[in-house]
Amino acid sequence: MKTKSSLAIFFGLAMSLNSPLFAQPKKANHDESLVKMGELPPLLKNADGSSVKPNEWAEHRENLVKTLAENQFGFSPQESCALSFEKVESGLMNEGETLREQYVVTLRTDHAELAINLAVFLPAKKSKVGGFLGLNFQGNHAVDPDPALRIPVSWMRENPNAGVVDHKATEKGRGVERDRWPIREINQRGFFVATVYYGDIDPDFDDGFQNGVHALFPNHRSDDAHTNRWGSIGGWAWGLSRIMDVLIQNPAIDSERVAVVGHSRLGKTALWAGATDPRFSLVISNNSGCGGAAIERRNFGETVAIINKAFPHWFCRNFRQFNERETELPHDAHTLVATIAPRPVYISSATKDEWADPKGEYLSGYYASEVYRLLGYKGLESETKPDPGKSVGDRVGYHIREGAHDILLEDWDHFMNFASRHWQ
Ligand code: GCU
Repeated sequence: MKTKSSLAIFFGLAMSLNSPLFAQPKKANHDESLVKMGELPPLLKNADGSSVKPNEWAEHRENLVKTLAENQFGFSPQESCALSFEKVESGLMNEGETLREQYVVTLRTDHAELAINLAVFLPAKKSKVGGFLGLNFQGNHAVDPDPALRIPVSWMRENPNAGVVDHKATEKGRGVERDRWPIREINQRGFFVATVYYGDIDPDFDDGFQNGVHALFPNHRSDDAHTNRWGSIGGWAWGLSRIMDVLIQNPAIDSERVAVVGHSRLGKTALWAGATDPRFSLVISNNSGCGGAAIERRNFGETVAIINKAFPHWFCRNFRQFNERETELPHDAHTLVATIAPRPVYISSATKDEWADPKGEYLSGYYASEVYRLLGYKGLESETKPDPGKSVGDRVGYHIREGAHDILLEDWDHFMNFASRHWQ
């Protein structure tokens, strides 16, 4: 076999380092006057150029989901996986207003076994309620100070944006995310809340997909030869579907009224879970930004190149082809939002969350509304986003909260109003 000359290797390496796959990402733009969004890919065009008719939407939607899987989120495995679950604890909290149920959900394949802790908070005096399923960042014990909430055993980061995985959760973390999970208020309005620590499904660091749900399917690992396989967001979304498998067996829950909700990276995840699993009858994305609801072609705040560099394990490898080449993406964030149709979808932003591009988050809902109109609904009808604090839209809803990147009671109030309106 002939070996390459060192010069050829040098040039080959220099060329590949120069390619958009390896270049240092350009700095984020925060100047609206520099935004050149250009044209967005059409949502309602068939391959032969004809327009999609209402009765063709279901099939067209499937194709759009495939496009999103191929180019951004990766495909999940088709192999089967055994699921079992056990209620390990239950009791009353919030002075008897909340019935807390804790489960261990076990997923098993021929290759591995994974235990996921699920906490469900039900209004104690109501049955067959609708509600919200969402992943949490710091453990189920972080969503409320209640001493019975179990502490996760999977690893987590002190700072979710730092590279290192530093600790296992301890008592110290109890209740630290309570402002994000107003359980009592949600139960008082007659909804349940269900949550899982996202690291139980897949720890959030780049380990070559050795742990979490990826270990269950070693023949479906993402690598250079398999550039359209799931990353961590795909794994978290798939995990949400497995939790849905459990929730629909709970007699206290109305399985037709389960919303999937998420903040930030978990907002990206909620959108993808909604796109891939129509059993989620309503989808909520909070501050999901790049890779979520924000239009990539705007190049405002975080970009495809920046996110792929900082979090190489979140998306499939094909997504890296669009680093600094957003205009070549066959889809954009409006496609992701549109795949929820005809189900209601809600997007929320925060005024100080420029990184997530609030205007781009609004616009994906605005452009996706074309599909809702085709199907006989109204979405976001104005091209301009509303003033802070005001919720607008019909089947596609939106608000922007005054303040920082977060998910707070004010956001939940809008989500609950939206859910009540659509679930009446
Ligand atoms: C980082 C990341 C965002 C992400 C956010 C989060 O800021 O760049 O894309 O949404 O973390 O999940 O908190």
